Amino acid sequence: KQPNWIAPSILSADFAQLGKDVKDVLNAGADVVHFDVMDNHYVPNLTIGPLVCESLKNYMVRESLTAPIDVHLMVKPVDRVIGDFANAGADYITFHPEASEHIDRSLQLIKAAGCKAGLVFNPATSLSYLEHVMDKIDMILIMSVNPGFGGQAFIPHALDKLRAARQLIDASGKEIRLEIDGGVKAENIAEVAAAGCDTFVSGSGIFGKANASDANRYDTIIKQM
Ligand code: DX5
Ligand code: ZN
Repeated sequence: KQPNWIAPSILSADFAQLGKDVKDVLNAGADVVHFDVMDNHYVPNLTIGPLVCESLKNYMVRESLTAPIDVHLMVKPVDRVIGDFANAGADYITFHPEASEHIDRSLQLIKAAGCKAGLVFNPATSLSYLEHVMDKIDMILIMSVNPGFGGQAFIPHALDKLRAARQLIDASGKEIRLEIDGGVKAENIAEVAAAGCDTFVSGSGIFGKANASDANRYDTIIKQM
């Protein structure tokens, strides 16, 4: 198991001051920036694309913020946005296997673009997609909500899936990150970690209304995680 990483999802940040929000959570101890890309086609919501990723990356470089950007693609088709996100500064690019016509090719495109690659599993998607690609991935992302919106309730079955994914990773002997996304908060993060997770996405649990734009509150919350 790799060192634990906290990955705030900017979906719940204030987009009118995205740079400041990202800087505040990173200074408060977060490790990764989770960047949710939704296309109003694969999922019923529309968010941000490579232009915003590039602006954010440039801002982070100017501010000497070195955290990786973890781009979670909820788009269909997948392949034609990979190069754009790689050029925009993405470090990890993950996608949903159902959204790709050719999963192995999408993984190869991500790697060829110089990024780390991962597959994302919806609550009802089988981990069997991993069988032939364990040697090509750097991350497995288990969804603990149905993708599309922040602020949903954690689906407990995701814990079983984390345990199963952890076994696959350990058996592979490879350095593969195991990430969870959806409904993760300071209150349930210990249980999620015990199931084998090492990378914790949290949107509303960090950028929630009560905490919004308050660097001190981010500090307190992230320290509890
Ligand atoms: C949902 C996104 C998540 C979302 C998590 O489709 O992939 O990253 O922002 O938000 P919370 O932590 O509020 O469930
Ligand atoms: Zn996400």
